[in-house]
Amino acid sequence: MRFKSFFIASSIVLGLTQLCYGQAGTIVGSKHDFSLANNTWNFSTPVTAQLQGQICRPCHAPHNSNIRDVAAIGGGYSNTPGAGSFGPLWDHTLSTQTYNIYSQGYNFWKEGAATVGNPDGSSKLCLSCHDGTVALANFRTFATATTKMSTFNGGASNLGTDLSTSHPISFTYNTALATTDHKIWDPSSTPSGVHSGTIDADMLENGKLQCISCHDAHNGAGVNRLLIKSNVGSALCFTCHKL
Ligand code: HEC
Ligand code: HEC
Ligand code: HEC
Ligand code: HEC
Repeated sequence: MRFKSFFIASSIVLGLTQLCYGQAGTIVGSKHDFSLANNTWNFSTPVTAQLQGQICRPCHAPHNSNIRDVAAIGGGYSNTPGAGSFGPLWDHTLSTQTYNIYSQGYNFWKEGAATVGNPDGSSKLCLSCHDGTVALANFRTFATATTKMSTFNGGASNLGTDLSTSHPISFTYNTALATTDHKIWDPSSTPSGVHSGTIDADMLENGKLQCISCHDAHNGAGVNRLLIKSNVGSALCFTCHKL
């Protein structure tokens, strides 16, 4: 009995830890599980028989991946090695679009003014499917697929190229911005509630807010819409916004 309650107690503790840091999800069964049968684009030509139905493959390749590095400055992915760069074995064909970006014209409090640039860093990886201009099954040597996000599932997940109607991305979010805009938390000292670190450590990429500040492509938290943490009661928004 003692033994059993020990196990119950430890699973409660484990469960709480998972709740606190939201690490209970998996890509399997999520919208990014491209092995699910509704992803017909991942099962048909030109994707060859040995590749079809894989989960990771439309995004990553274990060898000879398409894009090796991200330039440290500007964050544009390229094949030129650069200091501080990373490339998560990325294989999906990148988009060549220019975007209409978020303008701070609506700044609520007439203070704070994040300098929003063109999408960079890993946001370009997301937009390689989610701007709706590159076929979902286009990666490296496969460049003739036709199904794009703009038509897949009625375009439900297509952001398009007008990002002015989306939350701003690809800008530096630091102590200085939080000092000017008193309605956002200081990312260098505020806990994220995602892992055990700060907003800066757990949600920003090289100090910048990107798609992965709110989403986890691998569904690590197991929250709807691949969110990085639960947004019940707008908890995700309140992580950074002091309202
Ligand atoms: C829909 C696209 C997509 C799919 C599918 C995907 N990934 Fe990723 N992965 C990304 C992106 C984007 C990044 C870089 C951003 C980041 O670190 O979250 C990344 C980063 C990574 C990293 C480095 C950072 C980390 O989280 O450890 C690893 C390892 C990784 N992926 C493994 C995998 C494996 C294994 C699979 C299949 C089971 C997979 N990924 C499926 C998009 C994807
Ligand atoms: C990772 C931190 C973070 C999260 C999470 C986050 N935001 Fe933001 N948001 C910011 C920062 C930083 C700015 C830029 C503030 C500035 O320029 O002063 C911003 C800007 C905005 C703006 C534009 C304000 C303006 O003045 O034009 C709105 C509206 C907004 N966020 C709403 C939301 C909502 C709604 C959510 C939840 C779905 C959310 N944010 C989640 C950090 C975040
Ligand atoms: C290989 C193409 C591809 C890449 C790259 C990709 N996605 Fe997706 N994503 C998809 C597909 C396909 C769906 C399912 C669309 C649907 O069913 O409407 C999807 C769905 C989503 C959804 C909606 C989930 C839901 O529950 O409705 C979110 C959020 C999302 N992706 C975020 C991202 C982010 C953030 C990145 C980058 C870190 C990314 N995606 C990279 C293909 C991709
Ligand atoms: C500030 C947080 C935040 C950022 C940054 C962000 N998203 Fe989202 N995203 C959300 C939330 C919250 C939802 C769920 C909205 C809902 O349920 O109504 C969502 C929903 C989505 C969906 C589902 C379709 C939809 O419109 O509901 C997709 C696809 C998506 N995001 C992709 C992306 C991509 C790609 C990026 C980067 C270009 C990005 N997101 C940046 C918070 C964010």
